[in-house]
Amino acid sequence: MTQLQNPSPLAALDQANKSLASHPKGGISAPDQVTVTAVTHWTDKLFSFQTDRPPGFRFQSGEFAMIGLVDDEGKAVTLAYSIASPHWDDHLEFYSIIVPDGPLTSRLRHVQIGDKIILRPKTTGTLGLARLRDGQRLYLLATGTGFAPFAALIRDPEIYERFEQVILVHGCRTIAELGYSQKIVADSRAHPLIGEMVTRQLHYVPSVTRENFTQTGRITTLLADGKLASSLSLPPLDPAFDRIMICGSIGLNQDIAAQLLEKNFHEGNLSSPGDYVIERAFVGDGI
Ligand code: FAD
Ligand code: A2P
Repeated sequence: MTQLQNPSPLAALDQANKSLASHPKGGISAPDQVTVTAVTHWTDKLFSFQTDRPPGFRFQSGEFAMIGLVDDEGKAVTLAYSIASPHWDDHLEFYSIIVPDGPLTSRLRHVQIGDKIILRPKTTGTLGLARLRDGQRLYLLATGTGFAPFAALIRDPEIYERFEQVILVHGCRTIAELGYSQKIVADSRAHPLIGEMVTRQLHYVPSVTRENFTQTGRITTLLADGKLASSLSLPPLDPAFDRIMICGSIGLNQDIAAQLLEKNFHEGNLSSPGDYVIERAFVGDGI
């Protein structure tokens, strides 16, 4: 099993990138190749796809891997992608943005069933249960494609063993952008093995910011004004009971971390499990 354990997301990403230096630049070496088995386009900017899973590929729910394609010059272009399927699944799933002129996604957007993509064998990340102290409730806060690691975690029975309640908040600009998380949650509730615990313990709170919807507003606002907790009849956030995982843009991550620090929440790592952990959903300011 090849997994990296790093204290911070950036260190983790660095290490994952360094590991690629050992791979030949041209083409896909056979062990790093997987075949696309399903593709769904959710909006003109968002799609998900599944691949087969190499027999030796091991990871923990919530981690990311380096995936990519070979470009026209034969060079491998690989970038970090959260694995959206849980560790126990026999296939792998990814949820992707489309950046029209992005080096990877301008091409990845066209993948079809039967195509080969690169999947590097190392996985890593900070959204791991081992970095959190025990608690009563686990909040999973995501915007956009930041939902991907939580698509894996909400299907991992361990989170329902560790926490009585799991509150998943997914913030997007539009209702259509919630399509993937709505489907994953609905399928998880109906799943023959995990459905019962998901139905009993998972609260799903989708929220949009640029259209009318049952729940509107930025996650930061819902947290700050206490609306999130009160709409679920839960007490206000408290480091004695609540644990939090965050995955979104740099701005979202920073704004939530600032709110949590004010409330005396401490960031966790492997040597010192804490109250919250953060992963970037992407590098940059967003599109
Ligand atoms: P890039 O040159 O990489 O990006 C161009 C610009 O687009 C960026 O500067 C940024 O402003 C914006 N951008 C990039 N990715 C996103 C995004 N996901 N949402 C909104 N704006 C974005 N991307 C995914 O689509 N799904 C994932 O599961 C995912 N997991 C990631 C996990 C980690 C730890 C990190 C660091 C990044 C992750 N990304 C994910 C981002 C991914 O690595 C690429 O940046 C993305 O696929 C775009 O690649 P590109 O080459 O087309 O454009
Ligand atoms: P808003 O529409 O008010 O910008 P994006 O597609 O840009 O990544 O945004 C996804 C969601 O995250 C949107 O609902 C957006 O709200 C919200 N968002 C963006 N930046 C922040 C931030 N700093 N704090 C909280 N929510 C944010």
